[in-house]
Amino acid sequence: MKEQLEQIRKQTLDALGSAAAMPELEELRVKVLGKKGELTALLKQMGSLSPEERPAMGQLANAVRSAIEEKIAEKSEQLKALAQQAKLQAEAVDVTIPGKTQKLGHEHPMNIVLDRIKEIFLDMGFEIIEGDEIELADYNFTKLNTPEDHPAREWTDTFYLTEDSNVLLRTQTSPMQIRAIEAHGVPIRMISPGRVFRKDEVDATHSPMFHQIEGLVVDKGVTMADLKGTLNTVIRAIYGANTVTRFRPHHFPFTEPSCEVDIQCHKCGGVGCPTCKGEGWIEVLGAGMVHPKVLQNCGVDPEEYSGFAFGMGLERFALGSYKISDMRLIFENDVRFLEQF
Ligand code: PHE
Repeated sequence: MKEQLEQIRKQTLDALGSAAAMPELEELRVKVLGKKGELTALLKQMGSLSPEERPAMGQLANAVRSAIEEKIAEKSEQLKALAQQAKLQAEAVDVTIPGKTQKLGHEHPMNIVLDRIKEIFLDMGFEIIEGDEIELADYNFTKLNTPEDHPAREWTDTFYLTEDSNVLLRTQTSPMQIRAIEAHGVPIRMISPGRVFRKDEVDATHSPMFHQIEGLVVDKGVTMADLKGTLNTVIRAIYGANTVTRFRPHHFPFTEPSCEVDIQCHKCGGVGCPTCKGEGWIEVLGAGMVHPKVLQNCGVDPEEYSGFAFGMGLERFALGSYKISDMRLIFENDVRFLEQF
């Protein structure tokens, strides 16, 4: 039995020594120390030994078991460490490899101009209110005092979304006059920038979608002098301190009196040139004193409150500011174009 024990010790320790993976360790453990293992089988035979032999064999058997268990534990630590090292190597990241550079886009000239204009109005105490592009005819036309037979209501001019002509893509940002008063009450001082839609053919100065900025001031005692003072201040902040303006009578259903505001052509100084199409003046916005009926339509008493409103086309400002000759460039979004601003 002694030889058998020694043989088990030697064979098992050798096998453990050359084991290359955890499952092998477990296999060996079961083979030798398990319920039906070699050592276990020998221990079961102890009973057949003489009482003199038994203690020595018992000691040896225990020593063999301990040696094997220790070796398994030691080997298991080794294999774990190796596995950990292999994993670290496999997952190693070379932090010295150069990164992938991200190609940055460019802020659109329209947004650059819009941010500048917003800044000017915020400095003057206006708030910015955004509105929806899908609008009710009631807000786009009716509450703005637009007669039922007004040409702008024609299907040839306006993108309607329902057969009954009640829902449309807004043709102007002016419905925000009504919505802003309804939501915030008076007094109010706000601008509302956004997209508007009209059935226009695309050319160098037209697009079926373009941007406007609506403005509205309503308070007690607001007069045409406030309108002129405010718009002159804004226009000079945008076009330069020496810009000459002209307030020319016009008609809008929702303002009375109404005007269009021109700036004197900065190219020719008012004589007439290709930039101003020979006019000497360039139109920059529409404006007027809020019509009493519009105030009434929002539940505001026109005897108590008055106000002015204005609307300007944002594309025109962008084209003018950057001397861009064709509006289509603004919408194509060719990066080579955008990168120039
Ligand atoms: N909504 C008008 C337009 O699109 C502009 C405007 C706005 C005029 C506010 C007067 C007051 O032409």
